[in-house]
Amino acid sequence: MTANNTDLITLPFLWGSATAAYQCEGAWDTDGKGLGEWDFFNHKSLKNINHVDGDIACDFYHRYKEDLDLLAKGGQNTFRFSISWARIMPNGTGKVNKKGINFYNNLINYCIKLGIEPNVTLFHYDLPFALARRGGWLNSDITDWFCAYAKICFKAFGDRVRIWTTINEPHFYSYCSNIIGNYPPNRTLDFQSYFQWQYNLMLASAKAIEAFHELNMPGIIGVVHDGGSVEVAPETKHPDEVFKGADFFGNRMILCPALEGKLPPETNEMLAKMNILLYKSPEDNEIFKHGIADFLGLNLYCREYVTDWHGEQSHASVNNKGNGPKVESKCIAPLFETLYDKSVPHNQWGRELLPRVMYTSIMEIAKRYNNPLIFVTENGYGCFETPDKTGFVADDERIKVVKDFIDEMLRAKKAGAKVAGYYMWSAMDLYSWINGYKKRYGFIHINFDGNLKRTPKKSLTWYRQFIKSHENLKTDGIPASVLR
Ligand code: BG6
Repeated sequence: MTANNTDLITLPFLWGSATAAYQCEGAWDTDGKGLGEWDFFNHKSLKNINHVDGDIACDFYHRYKEDLDLLAKGGQNTFRFSISWARIMPNGTGKVNKKGINFYNNLINYCIKLGIEPNVTLFHYDLPFALARRGGWLNSDITDWFCAYAKICFKAFGDRVRIWTTINEPHFYSYCSNIIGNYPPNRTLDFQSYFQWQYNLMLASAKAIEAFHELNMPGIIGVVHDGGSVEVAPETKHPDEVFKGADFFGNRMILCPALEGKLPPETNEMLAKMNILLYKSPEDNEIFKHGIADFLGLNLYCREYVTDWHGEQSHASVNNKGNGPKVESKCIAPLFETLYDKSVPHNQWGRELLPRVMYTSIMEIAKRYNNPLIFVTENGYGCFETPDKTGFVADDERIKVVKDFIDEMLRAKKAGAKVAGYYMWSAMDLYSWINGYKKRYGFIHINFDGNLKRTPKKSLTWYRQFIKSHENLKTDGIPASVLR
């Protein structure tokens, strides 16, 4: 089944929420799970600035039923989660851990019992440590290691899972790991690794997609991209050039392989400008060609607002403290710089809050990439929150922001984009990578300082009503194989 398949079926629109294994499961060394790169980083590195880890997190490993019950009661008909590679294959390759397989079997079966469509991501940032030690995503063998792992998952869960993602956010993952340096292995401004890492991620993804199609799995498989569109500031002197550079840097190395089965045509020109030599082999072109995604997952939070490069050396920063005014910024010599737009509200972590970007990003992708099937796989509102004495959070601000974003998504759908589902980030409060546990995104409050008690927030009830009032909404078409 490929993206070009015309045998489409109309399904109810999927409304759900999302998580990722390391951010919620806990049980970091339980039942034969191998060490992950994030376990190692959070236990050992001084760069773990919030001094917390995912050892227990939400203890979803033991409490998934409680969470799924709440989501089902909240009217959600789908749930996005990721599989921990090290739980399935403790060393990343070779031996398979049966208890890991059992855990995901139970989780998937429970979703299905509740009428929740599982949407499964194979890789969401959490590399087995054994593979990180072998060079991780810079070792070209990883494309085969990943494909072998993916096939194990397809065979174990593919009779019930109909929506798969290979990799979550290849661009942002590589950006944080190689440019910002806040994710392990904490390289900074290493552009050679940044591009090679993305290239290898996309090659691994294409191999897994090809394997999925060859195995004739009854479902669809895609890639999830952090997809905010590039917008050029009006005062920019060379708008076309700036747009091309920023779009290449943030989007095209992911979108072209995923949706067109090839590297962007401008790759050589752009890499030459940055003095980068990509290590690739001529056979890779065939792999990309046969690894086109059936859908695109979009994690939509904000846009990239850019202008001309003014001659400084490259630099990049994020705000991992949530201390307000310090905004995210980047200067990517010689392509572009980001700009602070003071007319736009920003969150405490210095990120723009601009719901219309949901519409413009989706429409731009629909227009430029032949209107692919799209799921909004993440969108949401992170903030500090104080519950009342009962643990209840009246998260009116989240409701407002999320509703505005969803309205923009529905506007894009109405305008012809093939949007088939929406997942709020996150189902419950989670570990937020470098931001720790204080930055909260969930529909369900978790008391991380005590007994991990779950308390639905006001937004969970709001979402239930919102879903109900959109009951008649259908998808414009999902490949028929999904229903097999
Ligand atoms: C996405 C990731 O980029 O953003 C999630 O896929 C992440 O894993 C989410 O948690 C929010 O980012 P943060 O850093 O605020 O937790």
